[in-house]
Amino acid sequence: MEKYTADYLTIALPKGKLFSLSACLFEKVGITAEHMSEKSRKLVISNHDLKVQFIITKTSDVPTYVEYGAADIGIIGKDVLLESGQDVYELLDLGFGKCRLMMAVPREEKRAHLMDYAHTRVATKYPNIAEQFFARQGMQMEYIKLNGSIELGPIVGLSESIVDIVETGTTLVENDLEEIAHIMDVSARLIVNRVSFKLKFDRIYKIVNDLKQVLESGEI
Ligand code: PRP
Repeated sequence: MEKYTADYLTIALPKGKLFSLSACLFEKVGITAEHMSEKSRKLVISNHDLKVQFIITKTSDVPTYVEYGAADIGIIGKDVLLESGQDVYELLDLGFGKCRLMMAVPREEKRAHLMDYAHTRVATKYPNIAEQFFARQGMQMEYIKLNGSIELGPIVGLSESIVDIVETGTTLVENDLEEIAHIMDVSARLIVNRVSFKLKFDRIYKIVNDLKQVLESGEI
């Protein structure tokens, strides 16, 4: 078993859509480890020469590991970060993992105005962001938290609308849903634990600068 080592830099990477580009980005700045795979059953992957360890976690857990300092650095989508409300430094917009958070409704039952959906049910993975958005519109809604396949909500009568991310738009089209409100643009962010940023400043500062250069060169 890998031992937790305080002088190591611990990097949390999310499983799923952001994993391979995140691993690739760190590789470009010379930070890598053998057998990096999101399918790995090994939960901590270390490079003892570099004194670095990667932890590969469920996407929604990345901000938690970073806030509590179990990871010094993490990569996460802006949507998950904002929803979590976790207190971390957000140091870089990495520019990949681009999508948008929006409200969508069944095309056949589209109402004339956004306000016509006030007091209806919204299925979403993002109840906090959704609530802030609707509050800004002066709308009170009922939020139904789902963890995946959000588009199913209005199809089976669980909700009148959804708030979810759209990347290519295929899922909306295939389920006869139409976007009616844009809530925010989303992309991957580099986050850092507040204490680590002070205690491991030189290492983290160098990594942030190296990552910036890779991003500016357009290699990712
Ligand atoms: C996300 C999102 C949409 C879909 C949008 O789901 O929740 O369902 O991708 O992508 P598209 O616009 O390219 O069709 P994900 O694949 O992460 O799975 P999930 O439904 O289980 O959350």
